[in-house]
Amino acid sequence: MINICLCLGFSRSALLLTTTMSFEKSALKIASARPGWNLDAWQYLPAAERRTQPLPIIVMAHGFGANKTMGLAHYAEAFAAAGYACIVFDYRRWGASDGTPRHVLIVKDQLEDYRTVIKYARQQPEFDPQRLVLWGSSFSGAHTITLSADATVNAIAAMAQCPYTGLSPPLPLDTAYLKIAGSALLDIIKQGLGLTPVYIPVVSEPKSVGALTTEGTKSGMLAICSKDIEYWNEISASSLLQIPSYQPRAKAASVNCPLLIVLPTEDNLCLPEGAVQISKTTEKCQLVSIPCGHFDLYHGMSHHTESITAQLEFLEKHVPV
Ligand SMILES: *[C@@H]1O[C@H](CO)[C@@H](O)[C@H](O)[C@H]1NC(C)=O
Repeated sequence: MINICLCLGFSRSALLLTTTMSFEKSALKIASARPGWNLDAWQYLPAAERRTQPLPIIVMAHGFGANKTMGLAHYAEAFAAAGYACIVFDYRRWGASDGTPRHVLIVKDQLEDYRTVIKYARQQPEFDPQRLVLWGSSFSGAHTITLSADATVNAIAAMAQCPYTGLSPPLPLDTAYLKIAGSALLDIIKQGLGLTPVYIPVVSEPKSVGALTTEGTKSGMLAICSKDIEYWNEISASSLLQIPSYQPRAKAASVNCPLLIVLPTEDNLCLPEGAVQISKTTEKCQLVSIPCGHFDLYHGMSHHTESITAQLEFLEKHVPV
């Protein structure tokens, strides 16, 4: 079944993918801010009998070096089963979205893509523009914190699971570090000349070349991929230069809606101190601490249920359906 509906500024064609007892999933293309590049998205609706009109809508995106196939469906399905609509999207240059060169991370563009999808959601008659919720995990958790502090976004609530807040583990000055720095510089030059980027692995073992090399990160990242797909372990080396200057926790005082942070207290990738600082800075922040590591909150891992439960309780309290 194909529904075609033309809306101002956006061309929309939603292709039904799945219908179950508790949700309906369809595929969408949303025009990005860059002409000619579409964002690939999934839309989730609650089962027909749960569709109050208009529906609260949760906008969701994926983490660093990932795409929406890496575990996000499980969250969206749980939210849709509880009565919330969701739009899950891939950023430009990632996943099934358009944009070249591939696998280049640009924070400004990712935030702009969130804003594009937020605007799109607010223009759909089936969604309530006053009840728009932000959701992110890990690096997209950084974006939800940033956008929850932006008055122009005016979200009703925001949720960040194991978010990057601006604190990463210090990098040892070893040969791997020098190789990464060299690759990043060469990548800038090559991309500046319009050539293929220099790629490094997104995740690799400690002391080897890669963007994320803390203990347990490689196995954690591979564990959140569906079993039947291979992880595309590459990111342009200069993407790493985006990270140190991105400090979502610096925005804490401006957070203007209830913000849930689900914090794995043993996270060695996105250090927990940043989230604790945010919760001390603003009363808008509710911290739910779970004694586990970064990847343990994802589907199929030891503490997934606790994270989902905390998120559903938060939604029920601040955005009841
Ligand atoms: C999304 O990521 C998975 C690995 O986790 C990869 O296999 C797949 O090709 C990616 N999808 C696209 C469209 O790039």
